[in-house]
Amino acid sequence: MCGIVGYIGHQSAATLLLDGLQTLEYRGYDSAGIALAPGDGAFRVTRASGKLINLRNKMDAQDPATLGIGHTRWATHGRPTEENAHPHRSADGKIVAVHNGIFENFLELRKELQAQGEIFSSETDTEAFPVMVSHLMKAGLSFRDAFQQALGRMEGIYAIACLHADDPDRLLAARSGPPLVIGLGEGETFLASDVVPLLRHTRRVIFLEDGDIAEITRAGAQISRLDGSRVERLEQHIPYDPVAAEKGGFKHFMQKEIFEQPQAISNTLLNRLPIEPGETIPLELPFSDEELKALQRIHIVACGTSWHAGLVGKFLIEQLARTAVEVDYASEYRYREPVIPEGTLIIGITQSGETADTLAAMKEAALRGARTLAICNVMGSTATRTAEASILTHAGPEIGVASTKAFTTQLAVLTLLALRIGEAKGTVNPAQKEELLQGLRELPAHLEHLNALEPQIMRWAQKYRDASDFLYLGRGPLYPIALEGALKLKEISYIHAEGYPAGEMKHGPIALIDKNLPVVALMPKDAHREKTLSNLQEAAARDGRILGLVTQGDHGLDGIAEDVLELPDVHPWLAPILYVLPLQLLSYHIAVLRGCDVDQPRNLAKSVTVE
Ligand code: AGP
Repeated sequence: MCGIVGYIGHQSAATLLLDGLQTLEYRGYDSAGIALAPGDGAFRVTRASGKLINLRNKMDAQDPATLGIGHTRWATHGRPTEENAHPHRSADGKIVAVHNGIFENFLELRKELQAQGEIFSSETDTEAFPVMVSHLMKAGLSFRDAFQQALGRMEGIYAIACLHADDPDRLLAARSGPPLVIGLGEGETFLASDVVPLLRHTRRVIFLEDGDIAEITRAGAQISRLDGSRVERLEQHIPYDPVAAEKGGFKHFMQKEIFEQPQAISNTLLNRLPIEPGETIPLELPFSDEELKALQRIHIVACGTSWHAGLVGKFLIEQLARTAVEVDYASEYRYREPVIPEGTLIIGITQSGETADTLAAMKEAALRGARTLAICNVMGSTATRTAEASILTHAGPEIGVASTKAFTTQLAVLTLLALRIGEAKGTVNPAQKEELLQGLRELPAHLEHLNALEPQIMRWAQKYRDASDFLYLGRGPLYPIALEGALKLKEISYIHAEGYPAGEMKHGPIALIDKNLPVVALMPKDAHREKTLSNLQEAAARDGRILGLVTQGDHGLDGIAEDVLELPDVHPWLAPILYVLPLQLLSYHIAVLRGCDVDQPRNLAKSVTVE
């Protein structure tokens, strides 16, 4: 969603802010803007609707000002026009602000301020903030105090950065909800919505906590709370290599991230697999065996792709740990007054760690007494800081809006977690555990092998690119992969697609099947194979065009499927990690052929920080 960048230092803020916004593009946006403070009592504000190039073309990228803030906006209140783009200003032009989040009481504040003679010029909720700061300063408050008091008047969620035209040595920022990270340099300080724009400049960062106000200067940052009390926040070191956030020769981030999966899974598993047979899985969980044994049920909450990971997780945990698991869309769970008996663990699965609904659902469960665990890719994100325990997936930065490596690494973590809980509960038999661990060890090599199948998938993409609908079918742990395959195709190629459990097909979707409908069938050699095969025979009998993904050497779909892809023979419970990769590639290549903006699909945002 919206992205914020800020800079105060000795270099051209315009250059750095434009580059910073570019690296935040992946979050999703539909307009952008920058305010530069040259220190002469006025701002140079440039805004543009549409892509960042429009903003770049309108401003001097070498502007000598060394202080500024920038923003990419994903419209919530008000259309994505230039007038509604951030930064927003007070009527006297002295205060500018950029904001991520929503001020829920903005209409009320707007009326109150208008009644006192203040003037507004946009439709946005954000404008209430600079106008309020300016109003409070007219009453005699300093910039710093007015900023703090204005925050006290705002209801809702925000990450905000604000400048005063007569104060060229200070950038004020605050967060309550959406993230903000400060990057520390030599004689320069950076601000951003996440670490990606900071990586090129520094790895020394401070994550702001909810309720923090930061006074940022060239020398660093002083943090206080909303009541003005000072607070120290730990400086952290970000381990990512700056090139982790570059395309590295690939055409798109999504393609690069698909190809990174063998390495990403290796990183996820690093130091988490026992060395000797019989050893306990060394997963960094702060729960003792006694506590794990006491778990009566598990609720998983997540959104989108992470929710699909949750469905595979349910399968794995119920099989291996014999513990009942419920999986909910976070946006539903948080409002349905969930029943949370004693002994419940809530697991929030989230790549970004900032998805508003997932965070709220976890909070709701914690308030009702559940223990909380986050499975997350972003170190220092809200999910990892608010949950009692967290397991990082270590996929590295995922920039493409369509989640790929974050998903497969979530599945690897869920496999380890299911085994770990099963160990504590004594429900996993040692041979089964060793078989799965061995399967996990071999996964990176299998994934490498799949990447080599790209030419075949490209031929499929060429052949099926013009279909207007797709159906994806799978059973057991492959059913969530059918859902994920359909979601991937929808979000980046805009082709309508649905995922179904293969057994459910004849209860409705079969009516859709005709000679124009590609049916992507996931049919590994597992306990469900025969059932899936008969479902596919039914589809073929109705002229459906079947694209089958099967275990190497399985000829069951000969004469039934139009196209077949053979995949390595792995443990059936690890098949989800493998079978999703060709589906990611298929969506990717269809989207490229259709000329879609793969990394930034229309209307989508990478991390959805509003409800
Ligand atoms: C995935 O391709 C999507 N873009 C989206 O569904 C995503 O998985 C969802 O918004 C959840 O995000 P999170 O994992 O960061 O919480």
